[in-house]
Amino acid sequence: MAGSMQQQQQPTKARPKVVRTNVLFALLLLVACLQMILISIFSGRIENHASDPLYVIHKPNMIQPQQQVLTRKDKRNTSTPNMIFAGISYSDDTISETAIQYLMEAACKYHIQSHVLLSKRTHKTSLEHKIYLLGQHRYMRLAKGGTARQPACTELIHITTAPSDEQLIGETLTRMQSTGEINELLSEGAPNNPLDPENRVARIKRVREYQRQMIRDNVSFKQSNVKQSIIAMIDLDMFDYPPISKLIEVTEKYMLNSSTSALATYDAICANGVQRSRYKEHFPHRGYYDSFATLLLPNTWPVGEDKRTIPRGLLKGENVTLSKLSVRGLLDYFLKEGSTNSENTYNPVPVRSCFGGLTLYRADAWLSLHCRYDLYNKSVDVYRGKEEHQTCEHVVLHECLREKYNDFRIAVQPDMTTLWHLM
Ligand SMILES: *[C@@H]1O[C@H](CO)[C@@H](O)[C@H](O)[C@H]1NC(C)=O
Ligand SMILES: *[C@@H]1O[C@H](CO)[C@@H](O)[C@H](O)[C@H]1NC(C)=O
Ligand SMILES: *[C@@H]1O[C@H](CO)[C@@H](O)[C@H](O)[C@H]1NC(C)=O
Ligand SMILES: *[C@@H]1O[C@H](CO)[C@@H](O)[C@H](O)[C@H]1NC(C)=O
Ligand SMILES: *[C@@H]1O[C@H](CO)[C@@H](O)[C@H](O)[C@H]1NC(C)=O
Repeated sequence: MAGSMQQQQQPTKARPKVVRTNVLFALLLLVACLQMILISIFSGRIENHASDPLYVIHKPNMIQPQQQVLTRKDKRNTSTPNMIFAGISYSDDTISETAIQYLMEAACKYHIQSHVLLSKRTHKTSLEHKIYLLGQHRYMRLAKGGTARQPACTELIHITTAPSDEQLIGETLTRMQSTGEINELLSEGAPNNPLDPENRVARIKRVREYQRQMIRDNVSFKQSNVKQSIIAMIDLDMFDYPPISKLIEVTEKYMLNSSTSALATYDAICANGVQRSRYKEHFPHRGYYDSFATLLLPNTWPVGEDKRTIPRGLLKGENVTLSKLSVRGLLDYFLKEGSTNSENTYNPVPVRSCFGGLTLYRADAWLSLHCRYDLYNKSVDVYRGKEEHQTCEHVVLHECLREKYNDFRIAVQPDMTTLWHLM
């Protein structure tokens, strides 16, 4: 505005008459602008700025997403499923930049809330601060005087610090006592102990369960919509994630009760976790990652002999041919099993367990009162990793869901991929 007034003042000396009308016009414009600003302050929104790419309406539940990145296809559809992201990470610094961008996109473009639980905090480079700075950069007006308030959409990212190890162990112990698991554990003197204070996987079990309880206690799911809600468990250290529109497509097609698909619906759908060879830069040699969390139907654990405590073929129903597959072989297996008549379209591949760095759960299954990540059940000891000395927490949860709800259905979606490693 100031710039345009100056330009108009330049020719004033030569043509005084025009000047007066110009100044008058500018004044009128100024009054009109002021009026608009006042109206907008009182009504809480500026309709005229809806097309301003750097403008965001500061009103919870009324996010105006960044227009530049918003395509017609991405525009929030009020019938998109109620989806919540949940993830844990060791510290602020173990979250990838891609993950931060992903949470921001979920919040500001799709109005999806996230719950992030961190164990160790690094205040100098806190996640809150990173999101604040990124939010300011992306969603604030560039013009001088643009408000410095944090964009409302970033408030959808809830960051909490996990309690101490001692407290988490105490909470797990209380839960185990209330179900009688602790007696079983003590009588077995068992491995795979979720109370192990040193073991990494045991700690992850306790932290994941704490988060699950927290979401159950703090997020209000109406009885009517819990069946239509999705929890997306996401690992926060990936190098790439599937487009959020893909998550929505998959839930709508295969997971919600309203699915018109002839296929039965699934309670959980995992990303296809992809790893890239670090050595063959020019020949993109890719493979399936996350075998530790994966069980093929009926009961094949596709993990190398050196990584498992039970020898290959000894699981009840294990197919040795499949358990011997290489990571490339496994990736090909999922692509083949999920293939359809049309190229580049894949159906979910039913499995017994999977994770892949991102898994979509129907909220009613994930929030089950009868299953937990920190559950102790001797029957899953067979899936202990040699190095980890524990069974993967996802396998623990899925085996329980499978046992308690005999129609629990879980699958890998071959074309919903995450990337685990970068060169
Ligand atoms: C919203 O999504 C539903 C389900 O995906 C679709 O049927 C409907 O056409 C969409 N509506 C708009 C306005 O895009
Ligand atoms: C969430 O629930 C837990 C109990 O599980 C409680 O201690 C905590 O304060 C709650 N957090 C918020 C943000 O409400
Ligand atoms: C799906 O919807 C039908 C009809 O509304 C209902 O009877 C059924 O219980 C629902 N199933 C699930 C798994 O939500
Ligand atoms: C094991 O899996 C392979 C590949 O799917 C299949 O060809 C073979 O028949 C299976 N073997 C058994 C014993 O089921
Ligand atoms: C442990 O798992 C077995 C096999 O799935 C099941 O029969 C049993 O009920 C489970 N125990 C508990 C306490 O959940």
